[in-house]
Formats: sequence, C-alpha cells, structure tokens
Amino acid sequence: MIEPDAASPTAGEVLRAAAVRLAAAGRDTPRLDAEVLLRHVLGLDRTGLFVRLRDPVTNQDRVAFEALVARRLENVPVAYLTGTREFMGLPFAVGPGVLVPRPETEILVEWALAWLANRPPGLVLDIGTGSGAIALSFAAHLPGPWTGWIVAGDLSRAALAVAARNRAALGLDGRVGLVRGDLAGWCRGGVDLLLANLPYLRPEQRAANPDLVAEPALALLGGGDGLDPIRRLLADAPRVLVPGGALGLEIDPAQAAAVEALARAAFPGARAAVLPDLAGLARHVVVETTPG
Ligand SMILES: C[S@@+](CC[C@H](N)C(=O)[O-])C[C@H]1O[C@@H](n2cnc3c(N)ncnc32)[C@H](O)[C@@H]1O
Repeated sequence: MIEPDAASPTAGEVLRAAAVRLAAAGRDTPRLDAEVLLRHVLGLDRTGLFVRLRDPVTNQDRVAFEALVARRLENVPVAYLTGTREFMGLPFAVGPGVLVPRPETEILVEWALAWLANRPPGLVLDIGTGSGAIALSFAAHLPGPWTGWIVAGDLSRAALAVAARNRAALGLDGRVGLVRGDLAGWCRGGVDLLLANLPYLRPEQRAANPDLVAEPALALLGGGDGLDPIRRLLADAPRVLVPGGALGLEIDPAQAAAVEALARAAFPGARAAVLPDLAGLARHVVVETTPG
C-alpha cells in the first residue's frame, strides 16, 4: 500500500479539481459524479467521505480516481464505473449491455405495489426488465407472504445475465422467473399486472444526449417515433391481461397523449391515467381494465 506523503492533496482538493473538470466538459452533475467515484475508490459512504475531506489521498487512490474521472469524461455512466446503482433502496449490479435504472422508474414500482395491495395473489410481468430493477424491487418490497408469480422478460441475453445476478444477490431466486423473448409474445395469458419500461426514445433524442451513448440502443430506441415497442405491447396486452387486470408503462413525457390513446383503444372502457415524475413531467401511463 502506498502511504500519502505531506504533499499529497486532500480528498476535498481532489474532489473539487475533478468536479471542475467534469463541469467544464458539460456533465450535468459534476460534483455528485466526482463524489460517487471518489467514495467508490476510497470505499466510503457519504458521511465517511465528508469527515475525511481534509485527509490526504494516497497516490494509488488518486491514480485510480483519475482513471475513473477520465472515463466519465468519455461519457461512461457513473454506475458503469462503480458497477452498481441503487434502486428502491436496493443495490443493483449494472454494466455495459444493460440500462442503468433511473429514479423516475421507482414511481412505477410504487404504483404497482399500491395497486396489488389487498388483491389476491396473481401473475405479474415485467417486460424489458434490463437489470431486473422493476421485477426484483417489486418482489423485494411486497408486504408479507405473497404467493403469486413474478416473471421478468427481456430480449437481451446480456440484460438477462445481469438480472439473474441481481436476483441471486437479492435472495429472490425462488420468487422471480426470467424469460428471454420478444415483449410478451411468449406469455400465454392470465396476467394480473403488466409492467414495462420499454425503449421509448427517438434516434435524434439519443444522439443529442452524450450521457446516453454508452447505454445499449436496444434499451433506449423505440423506432422512428419512439413508440414501436409500446405500440406492439399495447396491441398484445388484451390477449395476456385478465379482465380487471392493470398495466403500467413508462413513457417519454411527450408521448403521454399518444400512449393514453393507444391504451384506450386497446382497452375501451378502462380507467387510464398519466402519473407525473418528481419533476412534474408525465412519466407513466397506468390502465385499470374493466372486471369481466
Ligand atoms: C429502457 S430499458 C428498461 C430496463 C429496466 N426495466 C429499467 O427500468 O431499468 C428497456 C429494456 O427493454 C429491453 N427490450 C427492448 N426491446 C425488447 C423487446 N422487443 N422485447 C423484450 N425486451 C426488449 C431492452 O433490452 C432493455 O433491457
């Protein structure tokens, strides 16, 4: 282990210098990015870092930190660099080939948990599961003994490998099934709750955002108008969903009216609503179908 010498910069100085470089390169959250990366290198939580801001950083740690900052400057997501992202209070492994779970998706999980409360056990699907964020956090947060089934699907083998890793790490091997397939095409029906955060961006939206280049196109791009996967899933949803079942989809805010219209066309007479995210933007379309 390399010990710091008297001339070693402090953690606070290293942090500030990195935040300035990240800000100059146009990163949205330079200070936070630098802090998360330094905590990762030093193996500290937030409080631990703040009480050590005046301590010198070893040369070895500084070199490791600078290497991560350099990769962040190349638009690699912070979560790919640390290998993990918290979602619904749980640690999810992430890496190239899988979308980094976003905080706004937690609203969909919370809506789903509330919808399922006081309903009998049934079948819950998460389509386009990626790291498993929705299905696994949903399973982990179910209150009490719930004897239904949760199945998560994805087209990407890389995503399913990460989801399987997260499932094991969270102790949910016996609770959540993983399936490789196109949307819900592999499902025979009997679904009570259908959840999906499918790719919904238009190509130009991704091209305009450097923060998205490292994440897989399959996870982000939804065709010319961004709605291809959602449109296909909604067309198939009446086949798989039981009468009285529900559906929750994450969307781009600009798609709210179009997705609500598609949902009403697929389920005439159903109750459809748009849920805002924490920024007040339309982020989810939820549908409760008419009981048979
Ligand atoms: C926006 S990411 C969401 C990942 C995860 N559910 C989350 O919220 O963090 C979309 C996911 O859908 C998957 N996907 C894309 N097209 C698909 C398809 N036709 N059938 C199944 N999964 C698909 C991608 O591989 C990706 O994992």
